[in-house]
Amino acid sequence: MSHAGAKRSTRILTDILFIAAAVSAYFLIKYAMRRFDPEADQKEENRKRSSAILRRLDNADVDAGTKRDVKRAELVLNPYEQTIAMEVVAPEDIQVSFEDIGGLGDIIEELKESVIYPLTVPHLFSDHSSLLSAPKGVLLYGPPGCGKTMLAKALAHESGACFINLHISTLTEKWYGDSNKLVAALFSLARKLEPSIIFIDEIDAVLRSRSSSDHEASTMVKAEFMTHWDGLLSTVDQRPPRIVVLGATNRIQDIDEAILRRLPKRFAVSLPNSEQRKRILKIILKDTKLDTTGRFDLDELVKRTAGMSGSDMKETCRDAAMIPIREYIKEKKAKGEELLSVKPDEVRGVRNDDFFRRKQGLSYSSLPDRSVESLVLN
Ligand SMILES: Nc1ncnc2c1ncn2[C@@H]1O[C@H](COP(=O)(O)OP(=O)(O)OP(=O)(O)O)[C@@H](O)[C@H]1O
Ligand SMILES: [Mg+2]
Repeated sequence: MSHAGAKRSTRILTDILFIAAAVSAYFLIKYAMRRFDPEADQKEENRKRSSAILRRLDNADVDAGTKRDVKRAELVLNPYEQTIAMEVVAPEDIQVSFEDIGGLGDIIEELKESVIYPLTVPHLFSDHSSLLSAPKGVLLYGPPGCGKTMLAKALAHESGACFINLHISTLTEKWYGDSNKLVAALFSLARKLEPSIIFIDEIDAVLRSRSSSDHEASTMVKAEFMTHWDGLLSTVDQRPPRIVVLGATNRIQDIDEAILRRLPKRFAVSLPNSEQRKRILKIILKDTKLDTTGRFDLDELVKRTAGMSGSDMKETCRDAAMIPIREYIKEKKAKGEELLSVKPDEVRGVRNDDFFRRKQGLSYSSLPDRSVESLVLN
């Protein structure tokens, strides 16, 4: 081989070696960065999951026929926004609709008027008067088991707005340097995805009266939260952001005054009266086989459920519906017949005397001092 040829091959070899060194250095640095950032895998996972969620939101929009300038799936989110995006629920993933809620027709109508329409057809309201934008805060309050969470879910399902079901642990479980960034990300994401509803269930536990015993971090989170919340009142391009904070609580007395002031629209979801109980029972029992020989009387049941919440009634009905099945199985066993040969149509319908038979283990949440027996007499 000539001298020049040998020189050329050495140069090629050095080039190859140089490129190989550069490539391995790149991978080495990348590997080191992953090792030093313990959350790298988590971040990657968050990124994938949040973009999947945003894609679903776009699909939901297509179904609803809404036109958007920017596709949600194409939005660029920072890692904090990606963490919050995991709390976003696509409306079609929620199974509850307004039809499933009994006896709260008035509240539903008002929620439609004051939340859904201003969020989804804002021009109708804002062109008419600047006073008519969606309220920045809505609170559902009342005793346990009366349908507050259900109402919020149905609102998400029916409004087509982006629904951020905020678990406060998302904001607080990180150490507090991150908490503030997450609160900021919550509001910036809500703005990117608008119209949006930020739902905080059991809001009392999250934003309860600030006391001196509070952890410093949670006080900071609250303060940050309120600052951003107030920011919702400022307008961007001459229009207010279409974002509502929706809270639910059964301990309204525990909520910080400052928070309450930011939740001006309040709906009391109280224990149902007889008319409401009738509607709830009809919904709960809609696909239960009922006795047709006169031994099922809805009106009497309405009387006997006085003082109960929707959730208590559901439990009661579940217990009652179990009785004919239990009897049937017992009968079959007594006759020595195979359980596999049972026919669902042979099971008798539910009767009034199936209700309130379970004497033990009763835990009707809204009846702290009234036994079921005393209610039966009412
Ligand atoms: N008005 C109602 N109509 C139909 N079902 C109801 C109604 N209220 C309550 N229920 C039943 O009770 C269950 C519990 O209701 P929900 O979780 O909405 O109560 P809540 O008011 O949020 O209670 P908590 O304050 O304890 O969170 C519902 O899943 C539903 O099955
Ligand atoms: Mg609830």
